[in-house]
Amino acid sequence: MNIFYFSAEVEPFAKSGGLGDVMGALPKAVAAEGHNVYVVMPYYCDVIKKEYKTKLTYEGYFYTDVNWRHQYVGVLSLKQEGVTYYFLDNEFYFHGPMYCFADNERFAYFAKASLDLVCWLNVKADILHCNDWSTGLIPVLRHAFYQDAPQLARSKVVYTIHNLRYQGWMSVEQALDLTGLSDWYFTWDRLLENGSANVMKGAIVFSNTVTTVSPSYAWEITQSRYSEGLGEVINKYRYKTIGILNGVDYSVYDPAQDKLILANYNGRNPKQGKETNKTALQLELNLPINAEKAMIGVISRLVDQKGLDILAQAAEEILQQDVQMVILGTGDSRYEEMMRELARRHPDKVSANIYFDNTLAHKIYAACDFMLVPSVFEPCGLTQLIALKYGAVPVVRETGGLKDTVLSYNEQTQEGNGFSFAECNAHDLAFTVRRALGFYHTQKGVYRTIQRRGMKQDFSWAESSRKYLNVYQNLLD
Ligand code: GLC
Repeated sequence: MNIFYFSAEVEPFAKSGGLGDVMGALPKAVAAEGHNVYVVMPYYCDVIKKEYKTKLTYEGYFYTDVNWRHQYVGVLSLKQEGVTYYFLDNEFYFHGPMYCFADNERFAYFAKASLDLVCWLNVKADILHCNDWSTGLIPVLRHAFYQDAPQLARSKVVYTIHNLRYQGWMSVEQALDLTGLSDWYFTWDRLLENGSANVMKGAIVFSNTVTTVSPSYAWEITQSRYSEGLGEVINKYRYKTIGILNGVDYSVYDPAQDKLILANYNGRNPKQGKETNKTALQLELNLPINAEKAMIGVISRLVDQKGLDILAQAAEEILQQDVQMVILGTGDSRYEEMMRELARRHPDKVSANIYFDNTLAHKIYAACDFMLVPSVFEPCGLTQLIALKYGAVPVVRETGGLKDTVLSYNEQTQEGNGFSFAECNAHDLAFTVRRALGFYHTQKGVYRTIQRRGMKQDFSWAESSRKYLNVYQNLLD
């Protein structure tokens, strides 16, 4: 099959969150099955590191029409691990940060240029796999303008929702101006939602299969609590929607191989390695050095989705106990300030690192005894999967992918690979952390069993990529 992936972020070139991780890993896994895989992303000239820029090959250029705008598209490429990456270059649109206020126009351009790229390359595409609202115009524009393009004639569109919260809203006026679509597209059963154009909605309507990144999230978004206002269209197209759990790239995240951590270790005997990593991190972050201290990690975008409001309410109660807490991430200033304030009040217990640092992230996974992921909603979540592999027992709220991957320890059956709570409130969070710490302090054997069980689990991409291939195959049959 000729499979094209379209994404606003792709690891290792440009990433702001889990979408980048998925687009870094899934195409490689699919290519390993023997398919022709192409990944298309914007050429963010100020974001992509020099070490990658210098490797790119200039393929040529063409012009694309963003309605009345006639715009340059430079094409750069890179072949790596069986995948061909295409970077679409237009400095006017993609200088500066990855995301900005002008995203509606930037991603309208990217969608149009992406479809033109397939034609320009003259590859007969089988699958166009789009991701999140930023590529959501691709199915719509394909429907409107590419019915006769031979390169796209047999192609089917898969649209993956990584996060329903970001939908790509614009006024109908702006949408008309950016796309040149006819009025036919702006009705309540197509792009129109509450009087405005909604790209996410259009993508759901005009793709052949909709996927989301965990089975539980696929179900949750049919419910008003999680549907972000799009419940009607989601339920209407439920028949073509499926949840496929993301995997982890163990070539990047494996404590036995990880070069970014001080001591490597595996699931057979994690204790010594983890303690070495813990004391090293305590030294680095200026926390009291003590290998026995229970260390809890929070690595997260600091946005309300991540359950930081209940964490704020529960923090004092958690910090009354004998613990250390290491926080890493950036986001909304109110949460950044909240984390800094916690560290100011508890300098001997909390280290708040309000920036993003990949090396530090690896060190935290390797050092921590627990990772906290109290999300309000979580389409899949990667933190808990990495945490499992690194023996940092996850403590999570039961939602989306967290619910599908973390089973709370049950004293009767002695099953479980972590700890979880159902309702989104501070009380249950604090109680669950207290429960987890109880095992850590007074029933070490149980803690170690839970820890090792998680480390042995396999959430690699092999299984997930097979499920995507199934989806592709079914569409083409
Ligand atoms: C989004 C979701 C996250 C998911 C990721 C990759 O960032 O918030 O839960 O893991 O996309 O699919």
